[in-house]
Formats: sequence, C-alpha cells, structure tokens
Amino acid sequence: MQSMKKIEYPTTVQGMYEHLKARIGKIVPDAELRLKSELAVEINQLKKQKNAVILGHNYMEAALFNSIPDYVGDSLGLSRIAAESTADRIVFCGVRFMAETAKILNPSRMVLLPAEVAGCSLAASITAEDVRNLKAKYPGVPVVTYINTYADVKAETDVCCTSSNAVDIVNKLDSDTVICLPDEFLAKNVARETGKRVITPSEAVQDDFRKAMIVWDGRCEVHEQFTVEDIRNARAQFPETVVIAHPECPPEVVLESDFSGSTTAIVNYVKKSEAQKFLILTECSMADNIAAENPEKEMLGLCSVRCPHMNEITLEDTLKCLQEDIWQIELEEELRVKAKRSLDRMLELS
Ligand code: 13P
Ligand code: SF4
Repeated sequence: MQSMKKIEYPTTVQGMYEHLKARIGKIVPDAELRLKSELAVEINQLKKQKNAVILGHNYMEAALFNSIPDYVGDSLGLSRIAAESTADRIVFCGVRFMAETAKILNPSRMVLLPAEVAGCSLAASITAEDVRNLKAKYPGVPVVTYINTYADVKAETDVCCTSSNAVDIVNKLDSDTVICLPDEFLAKNVARETGKRVITPSEAVQDDFRKAMIVWDGRCEVHEQFTVEDIRNARAQFPETVVIAHPECPPEVVLESDFSGSTTAIVNYVKKSEAQKFLILTECSMADNIAAENPEKEMLGLCSVRCPHMNEITLEDTLKCLQEDIWQIELEEELRVKAKRSLDRMLELS
C-alpha cells in the first residue's frame, strides 16, 4: 500500500460513498459509510484550500485509509515523502513519533497530528538518558535506533532504522557490535539475520562483547501479544494459510511464520502471492486495508489486536486539526538538528 503516486478520490459525497462501498462495504455498516463519505469530502476540500498533504500509515482504520490520504505507506516510505513535501501543511495520520519525524526532516512545513497524544509503547520505553548511559557503558559501539522513538532519543543516536531497513543498516555499519534500541523483539530478529548474539544491558560488561547485539527491553504492546499457538491453531484449521508476521513480533513467532517484513513489505507480499488465505500478525486494521485491495483473497479474522494509539486518529479529528491548525508538532531547533543527523544517515544508507 505504499504509493509514491498521489492518490485521487471522488469529489462528491455520492461518489465517495460509492468508492468506499466498493472497497470496504463488507466491513463497515452503510450508515457509517454515508457519514464518513461526507466527512472525507469536506476534509479533501479543505486540504486543497489550505495546501495540505495528508499522509496515512498502513494502520489507519479502513474508512479513513481509503478516503483522505494523498500518500499511504510504512514509516520509511512516509518519512521520505514528508522530507520532500512542498505543501504548506503536512497532516500525519499516524502516531506522534511519525509526525515528529516529518517535522525533524522538513521543519519549514506546519506538521499536524490529528490527536492530542497518539503515543507508542516502544517510543515510551526509552529516554535520552537511557541512551547516554548505554553509550557510557559500551563506549564506541554504534547506536542504531528504531524510528519508533522521540526526538531526544534520536538525537543521541548514530543512525535510525525502520522495520524495512534494519537488517540492511546493521550490515552496512560494518561493526561487530551494535546497540539496537528500543524494541527487544525487532533487535533479536535482526540479530538472527545478521549473525549476532544478543546481550542485554543488565548482563555484566565482559571484556568480549564483540559480535553482539546489545538490546533494550521495549516491546510493542500489539505485536507482543501474538504467539506460536495462534499460528499453529490457524494452520490446523486451514493448512493452506500463509502466515505473515511483522518483525516487532516475538522471534519465535517470526521464525514460525512464512514471511516477515515492514507493513508495506507485507502489503506487497500479499499482492504478489498466488495464495488465497493469509494470517497477518500485525495491527488488525491493516488486514482490512489489504482485503479492500485484494478482494479475491481472504484474510483470516484471527488477529483482532488494534493499536490504541493509531486508533486515536479519526476523520473527525483530522477535520478539526485542519480547520483550526491545532495539534501542531513543535521542536526545539538544537534538538531537531541533532535528531535529524540520525535520520539523514538512515536515508543515505537505505
Ligand atoms: P512499519 O514501519 O512497518 O510501517 O511499522 C510501524 C509500526 O509502528 C509497526 O507497529
Ligand atoms: Fe507503537 Fe506498536 Fe502501535 Fe506500532 S503498533 S505504533 S509499535 S504501539
């Protein structure tokens, strides 16, 4: 669902209703579709008047995802679009760290997040001081930080990564030892793929911490819920099911699955696959969005874990934030410049 081509939508309420009905009529009740069509058309008109661009993460709820974003995609794809946008306003339908990333990369634009908070359990799991302490404990070891963090943590980081480029970035660093923060599971999955053993900061510093990945104990509150049992149960009932897991899932879940990748990699995998049935172990709205695009394929309704932070973003609040220019992302300039270095390095390397 990552699209570098601007998405166009019907401009009348009836046209929008028919568009949404065709795509998501099976999962969203008719009365809701009519109401959302009106909201979406109003947002799209205002977007043009105010020269705004709307970016939509793959986890947005189906009606919003299919009616207002100019571009949709994963963290990496949307960061690239945000960095290059010439619009006066960037409205980020995603969570706070994503909107903050847009502001870090493109500070002269007004960046709006359609929610007061819209956090992330990974971003909340680590502070800048935690990173400074790790650097003091492991001097000279490069720090790779997941984009799911706030600006103060990025400012202490050598290079950022996303789920789509983490393995590549770690390989390109050409360092035996790497500190990989803050997602314990993503780091363990990357360690397996890059041939590094995992150590935690609570383990005593030994003379030999070479060829190691030093991990933090952050977890995504959504992906940590998936289990190997979920996969085995699905396969017992439907042996032909293709199982896909986001790399924020526990390592044993990723190992048991058929494919793992970023949200956009998952979208592309389903699109290209000849299989008919999929179990997608990630935030549940994404399965709805994939189903809308691939009506001939079946997404098993076994995962029903919604990210509460992504869920804060609604059509109603997107309209409000555009009408009033509220919930703007502001960053102190010195911090922004420091944080940008780690993002620029990521964009150069990936
Ligand atoms: P992606 O970069 O794969 O879109 O993931 C973002 C995220 O928050 C997953 O939980
Ligand atoms: Fe954060 Fe997990 Fe929600 Fe993604 S799904 S935004 S990692 S809490």
